[in-house]
Amino acid sequence: MAEGLAVEGLSVGFGGVRALDGVDLALRPGEIVGLVGPNGAGKSTLINCVGGQLEAAAGRVSLDGAPLDSMPPYLRARRGVLRTFQRIAVFPELTVREHLFVAVRARRPAGTRWSELVDRAQPNEAEALAIEEALDRVGLRERADVAVATLPLGACRLVEIARALVGGPRVLLADEPSSGLDPREAETLATVLRSVAGQGTGVLLVEHDLAMVAELCDRVVVLHVGRVIAQGSFAEVMADPTVQRAYLGHAA
Ligand SMILES: Nc1ncnc2c1ncn2[C@@H]1O[C@H](COP(=O)(O)OP(=O)(O)OP(=O)(O)O)[C@@H](O)[C@H]1O
Ligand SMILES: [Mg+2]
Repeated sequence: MAEGLAVEGLSVGFGGVRALDGVDLALRPGEIVGLVGPNGAGKSTLINCVGGQLEAAAGRVSLDGAPLDSMPPYLRARRGVLRTFQRIAVFPELTVREHLFVAVRARRPAGTRWSELVDRAQPNEAEALAIEEALDRVGLRERADVAVATLPLGACRLVEIARALVGGPRVLLADEPSSGLDPREAETLATVLRSVAGQGTGVLLVEHDLAMVAELCDRVVVLHVGRVIAQGSFAEVMADPTVQRAYLGHAA
């Protein structure tokens, strides 16, 4: 049984567009894998299939050998498959801390009453500790009690990271998490991703900032028009003529 996340033969079509075409990908515990490729390559589609937001036409996704395919996103999240969104998905009127409370409370087993999630419920001691730790890790403690609607994009991305952290990630799927971050926030993000991987979480990092990919990733997978065209170290894939052609649109 393979430890970690395994994606096998994943295919997705949107009308006539083949967004993913037989994609295989493995992510071991503690590994940071960069998923790169030109716009429209299928990176977000892959994340959506692993997170459960999108159903694949063919292929399998499993965690530690257990299939995830028929599970809705909340059950995958309970297994530790957590994500951030390219177009951020936050509740504007909720505070940062409330986002983290909902996420930490959602880890409770099935049967949790909705009122326990959002009503006048208070975090228990362990939940409160997890929330405060995540706030510190992403540097949002001072802004924990403001509505996220008042926060700039960069801070909202860090809210999404913190939300994944309190969910107990075994696999973190981060879809362009550095987009809109200022240099200080980007440094915080890099530190958090490194430390979460250091704790044994596999990180799949979709990232346009190639310097960040080079700095953080143990391995890089290149997608192009729905197919994996190269994988290896950052240096290896960037030296690959097929990759250069995909990025430049002509023979390099
Ligand atoms: N909901 C959808 N309906 C129709 N086509 C879609 C949908 N989502 C994605 N596509 C198409 O599928 C292909 C892959 O899109 P995807 O968003 O996965 O690419 P990406 O690699 O994440 O690109 P980017 O770097 O711009 O985020 C593109 O051709 C895109 O237009
Ligand atoms: Mg995308």
